[in-house]
Amino acid sequence: MDGQQYITLKDGTPMPKLGMGTWCLGDYRSERDKEIDALRAGLDAGIEMIDTAEMYGEGKSEKLVGEALRGYRRENLFLVSKVYPHNAGRARIYRSLEGSLKRLGTDYLDLYLLHWRGSVPLGETVECMEELVRSGKIRHWGVSNFDTSDMEELFQEESGANCAVNQVLYHLGSRGIEFDLMPWLGERGIPVMAYCPLAQAGALRKEIMENQVLRETASRYSITVMQLLLAFVMQQEGVAAIPRSGSREHVLENVEAGNIVLEPQDLQRISAQYPPPDRKQPLDIV
Ligand SMILES: NC(=O)c1ccc[n+]([C@@H]2O[C@H](COP(=O)([O-])OP(=O)(O)OC[C@H]3O[C@@H](n4cnc5c(N)ncnc54)[C@H](OP(=O)(O)O)[C@@H]3O)[C@@H](O)[C@H]2O)c1
Repeated sequence: MDGQQYITLKDGTPMPKLGMGTWCLGDYRSERDKEIDALRAGLDAGIEMIDTAEMYGEGKSEKLVGEALRGYRRENLFLVSKVYPHNAGRARIYRSLEGSLKRLGTDYLDLYLLHWRGSVPLGETVECMEELVRSGKIRHWGVSNFDTSDMEELFQEESGANCAVNQVLYHLGSRGIEFDLMPWLGERGIPVMAYCPLAQAGALRKEIMENQVLRETASRYSITVMQLLLAFVMQQEGVAAIPRSGSREHVLENVEAGNIVLEPQDLQRISAQYPPPDRKQPLDIV
């Protein structure tokens, strides 16, 4: 990358603006070498953040990431994992975290997220997360798939305001969070970590790949529509993105996209095709 881009967390820690997602990576043995090569291509090109979860392949993704990371300096990395909601209470979270750390081959996470809201009371999860921060096993904690009302409830809990990040679905074709969630988080210094920033290669918004305005705009910058989608997300203030790829070529394209600055008139043009919301929309999830 030309230069690393970071977002500053509330405690002053820099969090990379671009990371690599890993959902489905590690699922198939036959893809393993290719996927490790893709992750290492990203690390070698300067990507420092990797997002994973105990849920992905029931630990297979974390194991794959652990293997890809071998030989890289831990202090230069920003590792994110997530706990299943049913494991996010006093009875299980410590074992869950130990499992993630072991599979990743590290002794701490930079960020540990509650994957989505479940039946464990939020206050209990927060207490456990705070304890894990104190013990040094995680540096920060956050949430995922929390809408504005969930964030408000979280902030009612003691230490709930220590939440560092909210990871939610966000791409050009799904901009609902811009109406209320993004401003709410922004006012409180909580970055958004955008998942599915590529709309899952268009699978979440079928026509997006064929849109003529997007195609023309992308070709003027000599980039692909996927890179345009990523550049759009990366250009939002306080937003990090974690595109996933099992291909070295695509990872390197994503690194390039992180450096592209779209001109205001081009942002307007693509926004006219996929306008921001003019009213509250329920949080999009996959
Ligand atoms: N918190 C949550 O609930 C949640 C939910 C979903 C996802 N996530 C996280 O967010 C990450 C990203 O979301 P996602 O994996 O669902 O979707 P995504 O990143 O929007 O899209 C992934 C798809 O895009 C393709 N791709 C990647 N780079 C490309 C490029 N430059 N050109 C063309 N195709 C490209 C990949 O295929 P190739 O492998 O062939 O490149 C893959 O099919 C996940 O991996 C996961 O870490 C979190």
